[in-house]
Parts: sequence; structure tokens; C-alpha cells
Amino acid sequence: MNDGQRWFASDNNAATHPRIMDALARANKGHAVGYGGDPDTSRAENAVAALFGEGSLVRFVLNGTGSNVYAIGCFAGQGDAIICADCAHLVVDETGAPTAVTGAQLVPLRTIDGKLDAGQLAQVIGEYKDDMHKPRPAVVSISQPTELGTVYSASELDALISTAHNHGCVVHVDGARLANAAAALGVGPAEAAGAADVIGFGGTKNGLMFGEAVVFMPRIAGHLPDTARLRKTRLQLASKMRYIAAQFEEYVRDGLWLENARAANRAGAILNEGVRRLGIPVAYPVDTNGVFARIPVPVAETLRSKRFFYDWEGGLVRWMTSWDSTDEDIQTFLADLSATLTEYNKNHPEQAPGPEEVRLRESLGNSRKLMKSNWAEMERYTSDQSRGLPMPPFVNFQPSQAGQSEQPVQPTGRQGEALASADMSQEPNLIELPEPLATGLGSKSFAACTAERKSRRKFNGEPLSLEELSFLLWASQGSRGLRKDSFIRRTVPSGGSRHPLDTHIYTRRVIGLQPGLYRFMPVEHALVMSVPASPALDAAFDAALFEQLWDCAALFVWTAVPYRTEWRYTISAAKIVLLDAGHACQALYGACEALGLGTCAIGAYDQAPMDKTLGVDGQDEFAVYAAPVGRV
Ligand SMILES: Cc1cc2nc3c(=O)[nH]c(=O)nc-3n(C[C@H](O)[C@H](O)[C@H](O)COP(=O)(O)O)c2cc1C
Repeated sequence: MNDGQRWFASDNNAATHPRIMDALARANKGHAVGYGGDPDTSRAENAVAALFGEGSLVRFVLNGTGSNVYAIGCFAGQGDAIICADCAHLVVDETGAPTAVTGAQLVPLRTIDGKLDAGQLAQVIGEYKDDMHKPRPAVVSISQPTELGTVYSASELDALISTAHNHGCVVHVDGARLANAAAALGVGPAEAAGAADVIGFGGTKNGLMFGEAVVFMPRIAGHLPDTARLRKTRLQLASKMRYIAAQFEEYVRDGLWLENARAANRAGAILNEGVRRLGIPVAYPVDTNGVFARIPVPVAETLRSKRFFYDWEGGLVRWMTSWDSTDEDIQTFLADLSATLTEYNKNHPEQAPGPEEVRLRESLGNSRKLMKSNWAEMERYTSDQSRGLPMPPFVNFQPSQAGQSEQPVQPTGRQGEALASADMSQEPNLIELPEPLATGLGSKSFAACTAERKSRRKFNGEPLSLEELSFLLWASQGSRGLRKDSFIRRTVPSGGSRHPLDTHIYTRRVIGLQPGLYRFMPVEHALVMSVPASPALDAAFDAALFEQLWDCAALFVWTAVPYRTEWRYTISAAKIVLLDAGHACQALYGACEALGLGTCAIGAYDQAPMDKTLGVDGQDEFAVYAAPVGRV
């Protein structure tokens, strides 16, 4: 008899949900026809089928391995290939059953975070398809979520499944934790499996005592073998079927499947956060309820002696949360982990991370997160663009700002009232720049500019001409007109054509232009003065640049107006904005080379003083990149 303790070894170590126990108790009376011939089983099959859409065929089975082997075995046999991820349950945790039972060969593909890639899949299918010495690609099996707890986004699934279908493969989804993926994506189980043909819908890991459902989707209906007989030959036909049926009927009633999965995922997120806070590296994004961490072996052993959990491939340990994990379970476990780790570190000071290192690791983790694509996560949010909110303006300028840089800039966020640059009804003092392509500048070859480009930090003190300044602004952020949908086109690329950068230019020596701080208006190809130059402004810029003003002729500073990109890409905007800044600066380098000028990218500047000097609010607009320019 166990003592009621809970741990994080696996979600199939968790108890049965009380509602499922009640359902079992309710089913446990009188006699019922066996092998699924009873009315309760028909009702439960229909209830599960309703979640997957009309025409889907549901067959209950006993366990996860059985579910996979039975589902795949309906479409693959001797001489066939089952293509899947190298870490798939099929490969690492089913004792060779898929091959032993179906006769088909598993073809595992290498993955980094458990996810198959459509390009890689197409390549392997292409290699196998017409080579009779290799098995015929028959089934592509996708684990959703993956065995590493990561979740395929809708677009990733689309790409994979259409690749598989285009090559005539049947797509199987190992959905032992499909409920967790659906909860993470905020969709139903059918959507979480994309356009798959046969889907395992797990119950055992999400509150059932036992039992899984295999769902044959309508799209494969015309190609089904005798799925009833095959379930029997695969040893998955329960004689007392009413007990699986009763559980599933309760599981899908009122969304118990979702409630349980959400609870497990929430617990996973809290555990992940706590583990990271202790400075412990977590190997994969925690999209669902699995945390794969790296801890010293003796720490793992000490902890395991109190609460069981598994070691995982690659020197990792795996902690899984369940529908019944409580906040207290997590905090108790984290306290124990922290104490065990502290004790270990005392005896191994050379390996002990100090508080600064812990903070550094956490901070590095966040920075690395910013570098990565979070497109899948983004799909969980509705953007302001999708909501139909108006497109923010191309430039963060309000006529009232001209000549008053000491005034804070009004935010140009959702509620901001900035004007589109094309609608300058209050006539700011636009200083029109010479037409860049009429200047005749920039004829030096691309090859020569590329070959000679380098960062140049020494300038000869000679001024720039207004034509040259015009050319540089055009090359780095100039407009190429508006698209039909009123998005702006520029000389440089920008994610979603959002162009979130504004150019502030501090001119110190430009012939025919009063020295001062200006904002570039791309559509008008003009400047608007923010404030005239002064020794104080000079000193402020030099200080904000950590003394890298280098007596330049003009200083370019690009500010980000994040909402312009957030409007379309919500949480993915940060990475896109910074990538965009790189394009602007590279274009400036090229243009400088073409004109016999020099520049140097500046990432090292002091944020708050720079924003203050530019007269931007530091919230809805802030500096991201700078580049002094001069004649060399
Ligand atoms: C994002 C970024 C930030 C940079 N920040 C600075 C900086 O703050 N100060 C500086 O002197 N150079 C800076 N540089 C210039 C690099 O030092 C330079 O590109 C690098 O040494 C390679 O030399 P090259 O540009 O001549 O090929 C930066 C470059 C980039 C791309």
C-alpha cells in the first residue's frame, strides 16, 4: 500500500481522477455485453468521436504502446517504413514492439527538440521511395507533444503532414499526451493533431485508470482495413470494454480532459520556473508538463531516494507534472532540490554556481530566448492587426514635437494618437532632402563596396554634402512607396514589412544644413528638426555613446517603435525588430563605402541617457543601434 506521496516521475504514476473513479463505480453494476457490444461503449465512442468531428471512428484500446502499434499496423507491414523522431516513444520505449508486431521498419530521424522537420522528412522519403533496398515510406508518426514535451505549432504540423501526404504516406499522431498539447495551443484535440489520419487520444497519463482511444479520421475512411479484427489480433480488444468506455465518457464530458491537462501544464510551468531560478539548466522549452534538467548525478541520486524520477538520455533527468500536482508538491520538491544542491555545492565548491552566476545564467537564458523564434507560441495570441485595429503610423512623429525635444514624446502605442507621416495636416517644418537617385552618387560597384567595407572609427573632419546625407538616409531607411494595403516599402527588408525603426540623425557638419538633431521622414524623404546642435548636446551624445562620437560629421541613431511590429507579430516582435536594425546598419555601411565615407556600428551605448538625449520616452520608442558617419 503506498503512503499517498506524489512525485514527478511520470504523469502515468498519478492517481486516477475521482470523477473517473465515480464513473467506474457507476459502470460497475449488473451485466454488460463484452468486447464493446454494450450501449455504454457505443455512447462513449460517439462522445469521443464528437470531439474529432463527424465521420471519425473511435476504437478504445488498453495502453499506449498498444495504441501506437495497432494504429500504425493498420497501414504498415513488412517492407514498409514508419518514419518518426529519434526520441519517439515508438523508438525508445516500446521494446521493439512496433517492428515485432507489424513487421515494418522504424526509420528514426534525428531531432534537436523532439520535432520532425518537413524538409528533413521530404529528403528521407525522397531517398527511400524508389529504392527497393529500403522500406517503402508508409506511415509518418508524429508525437504531439513530442517525447521531450515540446509542441508542434499548427504551421509546423501543416508543413509536416502535407509533406507526408504529398508522398502518399499515412500520418499517425502518437497523442498519449494530446490533451496537453491541445491545452498548450488553446485548441481542441483534433486541431492539435492537424490533418493527421489516425490519432491516439491518450487517457492514462491524464487522469484515467487505463485506456486510450484510437481515432481514425474521416479523411482515411476509404482506405481502412478491418480495424475491428486488427484490434483483436494486436491484443488490444478489452473484453470488459464498458470500463474503458465509462472512463472516456466522463473524460470528455464537460472538458475534464482539458481541465486535467491544463492543471498539469500549469504545474509544469511553475516547476520549470523554480528549477531555472535555482540556476539549473533546462534542456528543452517546457511547452507542456515535462521538465528535462541537468543536475549532478549525486544530487539526482539523493533526491530520487526520497521521490522517484527517471534519468533521461543525454545525462538529463526528467520531471513530469500531472493533473494532480499541487503547488505545495512543487514547492516541497524545489526546497528539497535546493537543499540537496546547496549541500552538494558545499562539498564541490569548484562546481557551485554563486548567486551572481545563478543570476547570470537566468539572464542568459532570457537573452537566448529572445534570439530564438517563438512563432509557435505567438500563434496563441490574437494580434491587434487580426483584431482589426488600425495600422500604426510609419514614423513616430507628431508635429507638436518639432523643435521641442525636451518634451517627452507621446507614446505611439495602441492608444497613441501619432499621425501617419502621409497626413501631416499641421505642416511641420519639413526640410526636403535632394532626390537620392538624382544625385548621381553611389555608382561604385557592389563588389568593391563589399570587398572594402570595414568599420571605420577615424574621420578626417571634412563635412558631408546634403546630397550625401540624403543618399545615406535613403539607402538605410528610404521609402520605395506604399503597397496596395498601405504598408510601406523601403530600401531595406523588414519582418512583415512593418519597418519599426525611426532614424534620428545628429548632424554636426553637413553643408547647407543647420547642425542639430533631426528625425528622418521616410515617405517625404525629408528631415524635421528636433533641436539645434549645441556643445551640451554634443557632450550628451558623446557620453551616451561612451565617448564613441569620434568627431563624426553625422550620427545616425535608430530607435525602435516596437508597437509597429507588435501590432502584427505580438510576442515575436522583439527578435524581428532587432533583425531589422541589422539590415539598416548594413545598408548604411554599404552606402558609406560607395560614397567614400566611413561608419561603425555602435551597440555599446547607455540606454537611458541616449533616449533622453534623443527626446524619446524609452518605453514606446527607444534607441537600439547607432552609427557615427564621417569622411575618411
Ligand atoms: C551589433 C554590433 C555592435 C557593434 N558595436 C560596436 C561598438 O559599440 N563600438 C565599436 O567600436 N564597434 C562596434 N561594432 C563594430 C565591430 O567591432 C566590428 O564590426 C567588428 O570588429 C568587425 O570589424 P569590421 O566591421 O571592420 O569587419 C559593432 C558591430 C556590430 C555588428
